[in-house]
Amino acid sequence: MCGIIGYCGPRNATQILVEGLKRLEYRGYDSAGIAVGLNGSLKVIKTKGKIKELRQKIPGDMISSYGIGHTRWATHGVVNDINAHPHTDCSGNLAIVHNGIIENYESLKNMLESEGHIFHTDTDSEIIAHLIEKYFNDDLEKAVKEALPLLKGTYGIVCIHAKDPGRIVGARNGSPLVVGIGKDEMFLASDVTAIIAHTKKAVYLEDGEVVFIKPEDFITTDINDKKITKEIEQITWELQEIEKDGFPCFMEKEIMEQPESIKRAMSGRIDKELATAHLGGLNLSTKELINLERVKIIAAGTSFYAGMVGAYLLEAIPRIPAIPELASEVRYKNPIIEKNTLYFAVSQSGETIDTLFAMKELQRKGATVLGICNVVGSSIARDSDGGVYIHSGPEIAVASTKAFTSQITVFYLFSLLLARMRDLSFSAGEKLITDLISIPLKVENVLSRWQQLKEMAIKYAHYKDFLFLGRGVNYPVALEGALKLKEISYIHAEGYSSAEIKHGPIALINEETPSVFLVPDDELREKIISNIKEVKARKGKVIAISVEGDEEIKDIVDDVFEIPATHELFYPFIMVVPLQLFAYYCALELGRNVDQPRNLAKSVTVE
Ligand code: M6R
Repeated sequence: MCGIIGYCGPRNATQILVEGLKRLEYRGYDSAGIAVGLNGSLKVIKTKGKIKELRQKIPGDMISSYGIGHTRWATHGVVNDINAHPHTDCSGNLAIVHNGIIENYESLKNMLESEGHIFHTDTDSEIIAHLIEKYFNDDLEKAVKEALPLLKGTYGIVCIHAKDPGRIVGARNGSPLVVGIGKDEMFLASDVTAIIAHTKKAVYLEDGEVVFIKPEDFITTDINDKKITKEIEQITWELQEIEKDGFPCFMEKEIMEQPESIKRAMSGRIDKELATAHLGGLNLSTKELINLERVKIIAAGTSFYAGMVGAYLLEAIPRIPAIPELASEVRYKNPIIEKNTLYFAVSQSGETIDTLFAMKELQRKGATVLGICNVVGSSIARDSDGGVYIHSGPEIAVASTKAFTSQITVFYLFSLLLARMRDLSFSAGEKLITDLISIPLKVENVLSRWQQLKEMAIKYAHYKDFLFLGRGVNYPVALEGALKLKEISYIHAEGYSSAEIKHGPIALINEETPSVFLVPDDELREKIISNIKEVKARKGKVIAISVEGDEEIKDIVDDVFEIPATHELFYPFIMVVPLQLFAYYCALELGRNVDQPRNLAKSVTVE
């Protein structure tokens, strides 16, 4: 959940580290720090707060040729200057930054304290510095390799030593690290956004690997010092994709990008001639696809809601039983692996620890797990048995938006592919394709009417509790609408199937609790209208997201946002966008930090 950057080379490391941290700030923004080599020793500067605060503490003339930096999302120890990374050893010559959690830090700390090491922080990470110090004998790489076997837990560690200047050592176990290769300079980072301003050449470390870098080259080994040859990969993201590009914040930019990102998710994957879809990378034969009896989808947060939509589609289109499950629950419930069952691990970042570890548990028991990921080279993308990239481009805002619509695009394509192998006719396939292709324009239509959603948000942002209600394929969209509102505006919101309100939530309804109803023009419309009337009868305010031309609803509810009509299975695309914008403008109205909401971080890499 934190961000790491390291640099060695001819340029000023201080500046490169701070710029890299700024780009990594979405990974964690409680506190930040850097350590650089300066005149034979290390200079460490760290602070509670954002990179802006860190910048203010760094002297303008602090020029160095190597260093490391970190932006933190606190796990062990409160947010303060001392607990911020980098952490140093007793001598002050060694500095480390760490992502992940060291589970046995207490016993290691006791051991190290009994040997005379003095600790200054409440973090689990500080023990890494002292443990490496214990083994250091003028060779940092060797000391790291001796220390690593003692650590239990997850880590991406990057460290430097004043007595081994100009070099950086990194090690990975469960937290990503990528080496960036420049011309006579090297980078080491937790994520490519920190380095793409400088290089497009990357080497992704695997768990159990250690890298030793100096400006002119790098060496990768396992912890037993066995050399590992790595492939140099090309980073496909462009620098401009990780910049705000004139938008006030990343979330607005990413919401507005959706017509394009949805098109990218389907690009090259639709076969009009055969009225089907092509998804390279599934690594499954036609026979295996035809024989599938069940699909299970594991994910967290917004990706889980996309998975719920996916499960609905798989049951509705190819008629395959499909079950979405929270990855965090799957991992510990001793999952039963049934034959002819395909699993999907859905994750924007590809690094969510719950999803990654659930996937590994399933694979260990013999399951085939495909990834639906955005970040190329991420852990889930690499360790899955195949999969589909959503190609959304970088998603920087902590609240996920464009990834959701791209993830469901992939589920539409996969459903179409399976259905055409089973009993979906050519013309029904053609119709699905036509509907899918029309979605970006319809999303554009919704986006162009942002002003109306802004006015609605200004009217409602001061309410303290909301209900979001939808049914069928739009039920997960209601859950996603509630999640968006709570995570960026801090307004309490719950999502339910509107059919469920009579089983409890209706007790919450009064003049102070507005409900947002999703009202498509499908067979459940009448039932939803009845639910709206039940809420109105109890003086609840109602906002409806309804289909153009639905005049009846306007007389029943307090506010309406109209969306273009589509095939009933495609409403999630068009229903979710107004909810994203509504949450966004509520958060703005309340003066929240939209891109970096409190207590959150972009990818959840700790349990
Ligand atoms: O990277 P992932 O898609 O695996 O992330 C899953 C969740 O952590 C993520 O969707 C989270 O819920 C977002 N903050 C939602 O906006």
